[in-house]
Amino acid sequence: MKILAFESSCDETAAAVVEDGRRVLSDAIASQADMHALYGGVVPEIASRKHVEAIAALTEKALADAHCTKDDIDAVAVTYAPGLIGAVLVGLSFAKSVAYAWNVPLIPVHHVRGHIAANYLAFPELEPPFLALAISGGNTLIVDVRDYTDLRILGATRDDAAGECFDKAARVLGLPYPGGKPMDELAQQSAGGVYQLPVAHVDGAPLDMSFSGLKTAVVNLAHHAEQTGEPLDRAALARDFTRAVSDTLVPRAMEAARQTGRKVICAAGGVAANSIIRADLQKACDAAGCRLYLPPLRLCGDNGAMIGAQGYYEYLAGHTAGMELNAYATREIEDRG
Ligand code: KG4
Repeated sequence: MKILAFESSCDETAAAVVEDGRRVLSDAIASQADMHALYGGVVPEIASRKHVEAIAALTEKALADAHCTKDDIDAVAVTYAPGLIGAVLVGLSFAKSVAYAWNVPLIPVHHVRGHIAANYLAFPELEPPFLALAISGGNTLIVDVRDYTDLRILGATRDDAAGECFDKAARVLGLPYPGGKPMDELAQQSAGGVYQLPVAHVDGAPLDMSFSGLKTAVVNLAHHAEQTGEPLDRAALARDFTRAVSDTLVPRAMEAARQTGRKVICAAGGVAANSIIRADLQKACDAAGCRLYLPPLRLCGDNGAMIGAQGYYEYLAGHTAGMELNAYATREIEDRG
């Protein structure tokens, strides 16, 4: 079964063709990051406009790269939530019109379910159940993936997402948007151990997370240095910041594995590209006797193929939608349709 999949929830427009949920036939992506970098973050109205400009040509490219015509496409999958509402609406409206015009089923896909499903593309042997650490620009979740479409949240951030925290910390260190990758590169230049940064614990919810205090601590350190003229060791701060994020994420993922008895853990989302977090997760999984799946970097960030992968399993579960399908800025990963 060939699915044409769309993703437009933030600042990447993506169209892909995926076969049977596992084989990527094409994966066309147009990033708007350079445009948003001018403003230091995503400007929602610009994001929506850029999606409108890109999506038709990307669809043609995805079909051509996959050596497909519209007659080869069996269904259309699309991110319907969560994300910037205007941005999600562009992809959703386009996907609806394609499904309607071609008379094929329309499959709504939760964006973070898609991130987790990126692992199915990279690892053919991977099947639920497993634990997922989904860490992206807008979401930070520890999820028990009981089955392809039966997901339960075990832990979540109470405030900022890990990626958002990376982007804000990077900004005060003078790094370009999106800040995760440059922070990663800067952190490589220091062994850290210079700055004491907070790792928050949520009272009564040991698997939940909080990143806003960490973000504020980095902002305060940078502003203090600026105002007093004291030198700031930017590389050490990047390293200590990343350590604090990793020390928040990794022990919780391992505790979730202990509580559920799961022996397989998958990372997902843009922050899963971070070299320190990847190394820490690997070390912790080795120590606990867990198998770790780390998607290749190109599948960590937003892409259309991951939506096609999850879309296939949603379709098998009967989760299709009619033309009344709406977009949602927020939606729990446990919900469907
Ligand atoms: O998954 P993604 O592309 O978009 C969302 O679904 O949100 O994640 C984007 C986030 C951004 O915050 C970006 O700074 C972060 O992923 N990111 C990283 C790295 N590469 C991207 N964060 C830490 N280290 C990286 N190497």
